Amino acid sequence: MASIELEAPTSDRAAAGSANPRAGALQSYGLLYGSSPAMQELYEQIERVASTDATALIIGESGTGKELIARTIHEQSTRKEAPFIAVNCGAIPDELIEAELFGHEKGSFTGAIQGRVGYFEHANGGTLFLDEVTEMTPVRQVKLLRALETGTFYRVGSSEASYSDVRVIAATNRDPVTAVKENGLREDLMYRLAVFPLRAPPLRERDGDRELLAQHFLNELNEREGTQKVFSKRALETVRSWSWPGNVRELKNAVYRAFILAEKVVEIPHPHLVSRVKKPVTQGDAMSVWIGTPLADAQKQIILGTLKYCGGDKRRAARALGVSLKTLYNRLGAYGSEEREGEEEA
Ligand SMILES: Nc1ncnc2c1ncn2[C@@H]1O[C@H](COP(=O)(O)OP(=O)(O)O)[C@@H](O)[C@H]1O
Ligand SMILES: [Mg+2]
Repeated sequence: MASIELEAPTSDRAAAGSANPRAGALQSYGLLYGSSPAMQELYEQIERVASTDATALIIGESGTGKELIARTIHEQSTRKEAPFIAVNCGAIPDELIEAELFGHEKGSFTGAIQGRVGYFEHANGGTLFLDEVTEMTPVRQVKLLRALETGTFYRVGSSEASYSDVRVIAATNRDPVTAVKENGLREDLMYRLAVFPLRAPPLRERDGDRELLAQHFLNELNEREGTQKVFSKRALETVRSWSWPGNVRELKNAVYRAFILAEKVVEIPHPHLVSRVKKPVTQGDAMSVWIGTPLADAQKQIILGTLKYCGGDKRRAARALGVSLKTLYNRLGAYGSEEREGEEEA
């Protein structure tokens, strides 16, 4: 993997973010939020690369904020007044990608009714973000490499070279070395892109950021909707304990979904235990409990279901369940305080 010796940071990062030295506070840099050491390191690297015109390759799992990192680099650079253009290479059919990137002349291929300028020219003076760059076929990769090396390219159907002043930032969710070995990424292109490699850390390696980010997303929603919803203690526990394989995207979506469902106290069901939130199905005097329901929850559902079936008559329900009236009262008391706790803890 290409790497370069990094010099010490030179400029003051305070200008870019609201870095707050208070312990436990959420720090930010450009568009990115996060206070963990892994993010601090990333902020320093972004700062270094932003002041240059070097091509950067952002490597990280899906949802780690690769596009946000690219936008932040752009906004911190002298190119910030010019366009930032994001292209998902994996979403464009191979036969069209050249025309999309470099433009094409009228009549250059079936369907090319009009000539069109490509993303390289659109991004002139600014930044071109090539997401999922490893998805390009080797033939297209050669053309991209040539454009990166010479700064010139040909619109499809044209023999006249075009020039555009762009900084390219590429991103991939694959390890580039593996992508070269197994997925057809050309080694020369990989080295050309990875002049400045940046790793977007997965959320599970970002100590403390999960809660801070969840609270940040909730604050944003509260502000937008004019509400004052709060997380329950259990929701925060879930945020801390779940590994978030879908990273910040998964966390953000989970907070949003929970926010919509909540009146005041926001609950985030543990993604591993989603069966917990599935209600039992009652049909006449039978009731089905979902496979995988934790035993304690199944017991609660059966007790509450039976009580309801008995019209709220506790003595009858206790008899039907084969427990003493005292046991039933104890259980109901525990369920009641569980519900109250959920609200108080929030
Ligand atoms: N550090 C961060 N701070 C705030 N929001 C973030 C952060 N990282 C990612 N996000 C949000 O998570 C979602 C996914 O980010 P994105 O940049 O599209 O990830 P990727 O390109 O790596 O899949 C977006 O809604 C983005 O705004
Ligand atoms: Mg992306």
